[in-house]
Amino acid sequence: MALALYRKYRPATFAEVVGQEHVTEPLRTALAAGRINHAYLFSGPRGCGKTSSARIMARSLNCVEGPTPDPCGKCNSCLALAPEGPGSVDVTELDAASHGGVDDARELRDKAFYAPAESRYRVFIIDEAHMVTTQGFNALLKIVEEPPEHLIFIFATTEPDKVLTTIRSRTHHYPFRLIPPSSMRELLERNVAAEGAEVEPAVYPLVIRAGGGSARDTQSVLDQLLAGAGPDGVRSRCSASPTSRSSTTWSTRCRPRIPPSCSPPWRSWPRRATTRAASPPTCSTGCVTSC
Ligand SMILES: Nc1ncnc2c1ncn2[C@@H]1O[C@H](COP(=O)(O)OP(=O)(O)OP(=O)(O)O)[C@@H](O)[C@H]1O
Ligand SMILES: [Mg+2]
Ligand SMILES: [Zn+2]
Repeated sequence: MALALYRKYRPATFAEVVGQEHVTEPLRTALAAGRINHAYLFSGPRGCGKTSSARIMARSLNCVEGPTPDPCGKCNSCLALAPEGPGSVDVTELDAASHGGVDDARELRDKAFYAPAESRYRVFIIDEAHMVTTQGFNALLKIVEEPPEHLIFIFATTEPDKVLTTIRSRTHHYPFRLIPPSSMRELLERNVAAEGAEVEPAVYPLVIRAGGGSARDTQSVLDQLLAGAGPDGVRSRCSASPTSRSSTTWSTRCRPRIPPSCSPPWRSWPRRATTRAASPPTCSTGCVTSC
């Protein structure tokens, strides 16, 4: 089975994270200057790069040439922490959605005092941090307030308000945003080129709109279109006369119509942050109806 585009093209450095320059630039500057904090909070809407950036931060901190905004990609730590790498004993990721209870938090806390085995820092990534229970946060409180020198926490969440205030106040908070269309297009064009696929330019705005500013959702829409694309790639509409394909299938399935997902204008994105993206109407031969 093919790996989904959004997993295949997970960014490995801050330079590859698109549309979040207001976050990645200050982080890069801090890394370059060696100004490292003990706790970070990455917040923002779904699928816009929080978890990826938490992993990139760990990779940037623990590169042998680091802390650096541009991890070398060759050292043991960089290889271990690459998107498809095996992971490092010094970087622990806790998925609070399934492990947010007090026992999990205590287990993590007990690990915190050990020095890193082979890296500069021990990094705890608490993903979906809004799912940590109050008791769980309380178990972590002391260690976040007075962490050992070698320990760095990175909390990632869509709901920063649900992170215990006393913990949140110890973090440097980086709010991620929905990705603007121009950055999203850059990302999609890169994916399409890497896939060696053909996509008609008019298709991009439709895919981007359907993705609602989330890179993951947008890449999923593109994935679906590429999966159904014919030999001449993904086209914007099916009104072009079919030559080698069955014209009956085309005329019934590909009639252009106004998809409901196309109506909200870009400026409404922030209010749509929590709604799920809708796919543009497609047909089995990889075309998209325009609106
Ligand atoms: N800013 C971005 N630049 C490039 N790719 C991105 C970006 N944001 C997300 N992606 C893509 O989407 C996938 C999911 O991103 P990630 O897991 O970092 O999102 P998230 O913000 O943690 O979402 P969630 O809130 O659902 O956990 C990545 O593997 C990557 O392919
Ligand atoms: Mg995430
Ligand atoms: Zn390295």
